[in-house]
Amino acid sequence: MTSTGHNAPGGAPTDASSQAAHAAPVLELEHVTLELGGRTILRDTGFAVNQGEFIGVLGPNGAGKTTLMRAVLGLVPAAHGAIRVLGQPVERGNASIGYMPQTRSALAGRRVRGRDFVAMAADGHRWGLPHADAKTRADVERVLDLVGGSKLAARPLSELSGGERQRLLLAQCLLGKPKLLLLDEPLISLDPHHQKNVVELVRRVQQELGIAVLFSAHELNPLLNSLDRVLYLGSGVAALGTVDEVITRPVLSRLYGSPIDVMRVNGRIFVMSGGVEVEKHDHEHEHDEDGAHSHSHSHGHAHGRSHQHDSRDGHTHDV
Ligand SMILES: Nc1ncnc2c1ncn2[C@@H]1O[C@H](COP(=O)(O)OP(=O)(O)OP(=O)(O)O)[C@@H](O)[C@H]1O
Ligand SMILES: [Mg+2]
Repeated sequence: MTSTGHNAPGGAPTDASSQAAHAAPVLELEHVTLELGGRTILRDTGFAVNQGEFIGVLGPNGAGKTTLMRAVLGLVPAAHGAIRVLGQPVERGNASIGYMPQTRSALAGRRVRGRDFVAMAADGHRWGLPHADAKTRADVERVLDLVGGSKLAARPLSELSGGERQRLLLAQCLLGKPKLLLLDEPLISLDPHHQKNVVELVRRVQQELGIAVLFSAHELNPLLNSLDRVLYLGSGVAALGTVDEVITRPVLSRLYGSPIDVMRVNGRIFVMSGGVEVEKHDHEHEHDEDGAHSHSHSHGHAHGRSHQHDSRDGHTHDV
């Protein structure tokens, strides 16, 4: 397991050559400290995510899951340390990254047709398909097909269920063939049946394309059958490893800063503090007020068009 401040990740080359990009972890943090409004969110943190990995990102409210994703996008600068994506320092508008922001409830009222909504995320085509060029149209059809959303895309967003909208949001993230997806709380507001569908959809697409996914959630159980490793955040520190390595009494007690018990029942895992389940509570409803997420829904993604086709598919568990 990689734990804050202990391991220097990677050892991969970090120069600009494309060969380095093939060899490099998809995401690498080295002694990273993140601060917001004078508070330390993450302290001296190091870990590496390999290409083709599905990482469940967990941790209590305010642990820094969203902040970490925004730092990877270059929207929150690291106060100390280095963040690299495919061996390169982070930059805004990195075409290798697809991003689904946490805040998105305003979508439910929009009459825009699904297909046009997906097309809006393609750079330079904010007004949807009528103005899109042939290449963008082809990419839109490709991503809709990938997520099984071609039929849905004929309908307005306002007539779709939460799970169906998630399908189209995932399609948006896949435009431009990113190598890393940052999906911030895709399960919020979904019932267990739709949660399962969304997780399985992301897992299928992630494996088909051989890309890496950081998938934040408030509950581990919906992700258990799909994830390769868990990144757990808490108390300014992070632990990355397999479920068996991270979801343990000592590791979680350190991250929560209080005694934690881990119970396994019928293949499900419950993280308990003083007899009460600690995950799960606060995020059953979506909120749409956070000024920190100032980017709008239609262009909150951080990718453009990428022409990288490397798809190394290593489900590695080195820690
Ligand atoms: N712009 C900001 N200025 C100052 N503090 C901020 C800002 N944005 C977020 N924070 C704080 O940083 C901490 C981490 O927030 P973040 O949104 O990353 O947590 P999270 O793990 O995503 O939480 P949640 O589970 O509620 O989505 C929180 O304490 C939050 O209040
Ligand atoms: Mg968040």
